[in-house]
This record gives sequence, structure tokens and C-alpha cells, in this order.
Amino acid sequence: MKTELSFADIAGIETELLAVVAVDTQTAKGPDVKAEPVLLTSDEAVKSAAATVLGSGEFKAGVNETVLLHAPAGLKAKRLLLVGLGKQAKVTVHSVRTAAGTAVRFTKPRGIRELAFALPEAELLPPGPCSRASVEGAIVGDFDADTYRSDRKDKSVQSFILAAPSTFDQATVEAGAVEGAIVGESQNFTRSLVNEPGNKLTPTILGQRAAEMAAAVGLKWDVSSTEKLHELKMGAFWSVSQGSAEPPALIVLRYEPEGVAADPNAPILGLVGKGITFDTGGISIKPGDNMEKMKYDMAGGAAMLGAMRAIALLKPKVRVICIVCAAENMPDGKAYKPGDVVTAMSGKTIDVINTDAEGRLVLADGLTYARQLGATHLIDAATLTGAIGVALGQHNAGAFSNDDAAFAKFAAALGTSGEKFWRMPLGEEYAEQIKSDIGDIKNTGGRAGGASTAAEFLHVFAEDTPWIHLDIAGMAWIDDQRPYIAKGPSGVGVRSILEWVRSY
Ligand code: BES
Ligand code: MN
Ligand code: ZN
Repeated sequence: MKTELSFADIAGIETELLAVVAVDTQTAKGPDVKAEPVLLTSDEAVKSAAATVLGSGEFKAGVNETVLLHAPAGLKAKRLLLVGLGKQAKVTVHSVRTAAGTAVRFTKPRGIRELAFALPEAELLPPGPCSRASVEGAIVGDFDADTYRSDRKDKSVQSFILAAPSTFDQATVEAGAVEGAIVGESQNFTRSLVNEPGNKLTPTILGQRAAEMAAAVGLKWDVSSTEKLHELKMGAFWSVSQGSAEPPALIVLRYEPEGVAADPNAPILGLVGKGITFDTGGISIKPGDNMEKMKYDMAGGAAMLGAMRAIALLKPKVRVICIVCAAENMPDGKAYKPGDVVTAMSGKTIDVINTDAEGRLVLADGLTYARQLGATHLIDAATLTGAIGVALGQHNAGAFSNDDAAFAKFAAALGTSGEKFWRMPLGEEYAEQIKSDIGDIKNTGGRAGGASTAAEFLHVFAEDTPWIHLDIAGMAWIDDQRPYIAKGPSGVGVRSILEWVRSY
């Protein structure tokens, strides 16, 4: 999808479809109270073209609600699409992001290959962030996980015109659009990786894809395998990979902006991702139902790679190290077994209770390595537990932290990213559940509080380094399509991790 900017009169834009957003200004409540939709444009021609449908009561400007008008009188556009942002009091920049995505997803299946989207004119919606969010939403909305379908007729939208009123500052709108394209494309990069099946994306191939991306955007990279794991004494990471015919990949990317490296007190951010390219459960094998979904068990690692792509292009003034621990979790004669005791890179011994709790093992060594490489602040992302999906559904991902200051920055980042993460508890009680009689810790703590005991396991390896853990198991794959995003890989985490990094 190509993005263009227009500062011309929107009524004069010659396009297949012009999308304009509306809010519901009604504040009263009650069964007989009618919605009062108002368009966020000052263009008189657009307002008059939409007047009849707005007066009809058919369109309430609800969140991502749409209505289409053909041959709108007085406009050069062939179609006028109204997109709702919901109640005026609740509208945010993120509402604009999903509205742009909704407009693209409305357009795409109808075989229309171009559209213009009018930036909202409203005091509470700043042009720069809205411009970024619109382009981001459009690019994310244009993605479908259909690369392996030979009948895919649903081709991409070719051209997206972001139409700004001439009163908006052009440089601000332009900068926002450039940023939105980088972030949206990075999120889609993550989604395309997550969509790849286990046979097409082994740990080795994930390493190659990471290296290609790194080379393209100017990041330093190093991808190694079995020998390096042994050299670093990554016994936890290795134990997961040892049952697979596919060798593991230790992916390290570095972003080192000029001028920052000199300061010894400057922070170094460590991004650590779970990259299990397929999780059978190992010897503690998973049931067959839904096992095919376990190709997305590398979504945390893919989110880190997408964030690194955006970091490389947006160039924040902070050093970043990214580590993705990629392996395949398989049952085999050489596989690790329940009852095995493995020694992690940190020296801690782990009593393996369940080989399906493999994500925390690879992350344990990833976190230790990030600290060894000098990370002063850590963030990890992982499809770590089914328990987080039970707790939060497909509406919020889980976030855990040992440091309120680092978490406060993450919470602030959510305001920009529009993603939903809910802070979940760590604590002594959960740490107690993973004490082992045999070794230092065991890798499961029972069903109760499963997301928190998994997080406490990682805490043992993050130690007192400020650290945030994102459990995206429930959110990385969306089962039902939404008006603004296709079903399948969501790319959750990319935008929030990026904004957290930019806040340092
Ligand atoms: N990859 C899974 C978690 C998962 C579940 C991701 C559902 C996405 C959707 C993880 O490796 C796992 O198997 N976790 C176990 C842990 C248990 C054995 C303590 C789980 O959640 O059941
Ligand atoms: Mn597992
Ligand atoms: Zn897993």
C-alpha cells in the first residue's frame, strides 16, 4: 500500500472512496434517546452530501460503524464512507487508528483499490498523532494472513490518500505519516513471521529472516546455534532444543545510535523474545485439538524483531540489545524429560516438571545473556501461558514488573500505542509455588495463578534488574476478525515495546 498526502479541498479529491469520521455527540441516556452523529470535518460539501443519512437515524457513529453512500452529490469521490468513532467523550487518537483500519478493511474485499481518509478536525485530536495513527491503522488494516492461499482474490489496497485540511501544519502531518508507515509496516513484518507455519519457519530460518531485516535497516546482528549455546552454558535453552532435529537459533540484534555509546551511565535496554517456532509440548505432549496453533509460539520473539525494525528506522537516542531464543519443542529419544535437572546459564538448577513449560526455560537464559551483555533494563515478550488467556481473554495482554518506574513508562507508552496490557501480580506467594525439593526452582507451579508463577520463574533470572514481562499468549492470535484488523496474527506488543524504548 502506497501512502500519499493531500492538503487540497476534500470535496475535490478524485478517488474511488472518501472516508470521513463521525462522533456521537449525544450525552443523554435512555431508551428513547437518539444518537446525534456529527462529522469531524468543516467541509460543507461533505456535510451536505451526508446530511440525509445522518438525519435518518440509521447511522449512529458507533465505534467502527460504517455506512456507504454512492455518487455523493457535490463530491468528486465516487463513494463516501462514514466511519463512526463512538461517543465523543470517549474518542481518542486510537479511535482514529481503528477507524482508518476499518475504512481499509471495508474497501479491500469490495475490490476497490484506492481510498482517501479525511483526518478528523477536532480540538481533542492533535493532527500529528492522528496522522501517524491513521497511516498505521490503514497499513495494519490492509494485512491478511492469506499468503498460502492460491485463490486469494483479496488483493491489497494500492493507494491510501491521507487528506488533511489546508489549515493543518504540513510538516507535522507529514512527519506523523512517515512514522505511521514505519510502525504499521513493522507490525505487519511481525505478523507475517507469526503466520509462517512451523515447517516453513524453523529456528534457523527465523534467524535468517532476522538477519535479512537487520541488514536492510542497518542493525548489527549475530545469529548462532548449538555451539554457542554450549559455550555460554545455556543449559535451559539447550534442553528445550535438544529434542528437535532442527538446531536452535540464538538471535542477537544491536541498535547503537551514534553519540550515545560514549556515556557510561546511559541505559541499555534489553529486549528478550520467546521464539518457539513450534511447541508440541515435548514429552509432556499437548492434546491434538488446536495444536496447529502452536506455530505462533514465536510471537514474542517476532514482536521484538518488529520493534527492532521500527527502532532502527525511527532512531531513538538509546542503546538497545535484542535477543530472541528460537527453538522447536519436540518429543524425541533425545528430548529432555520430566524429572530432568538442567543448569541454566546463571548457574541456577531447574527441576523440569513439565516439558510443555519450555518458554520460561529459553527466556531464563535469554534474560541472563541480556544482563551479561550489559542490559540495564529488561523487557521480555512471550506466548508464555494459557492461563493469561483464561484470565484476560482476547482483550488485554498481561504485563508484570519488578519495577514501578519502568512499568510507569510502559503504562505511558500504552497511551500512544493504543494497545491494552493489564498489570498482573508477582509476589512471594507465587515464588513459593515454584520452589523445588530437588533443585533451585521447578518449571511449573500448578494450575493456580499459572501466569504469575511463570512470571516469578522469569523473575529469578531478571533478578533485581528493572524488568517487564509481557505474556501475550491470549492476544498474539485473534480468532475472530474485527472491523479494523483481520483474524490471525495480531502483531501485539510491537507498538508498545517501541514506545517504551522511545521513552528512555
Ligand atoms: N506456548 C504455551 C502457552 C500458550 C497456550 C500459548 C495457548 C498460546 C496459546 C506454553 O509453552 C505452554 O505450553 N504453557 C503451559 C504451561 C504449563 C505446562 C505450566 C500452559 O499454559 O498450559
Ligand atoms: Mn509449551
Ligand atoms: Zn510454548
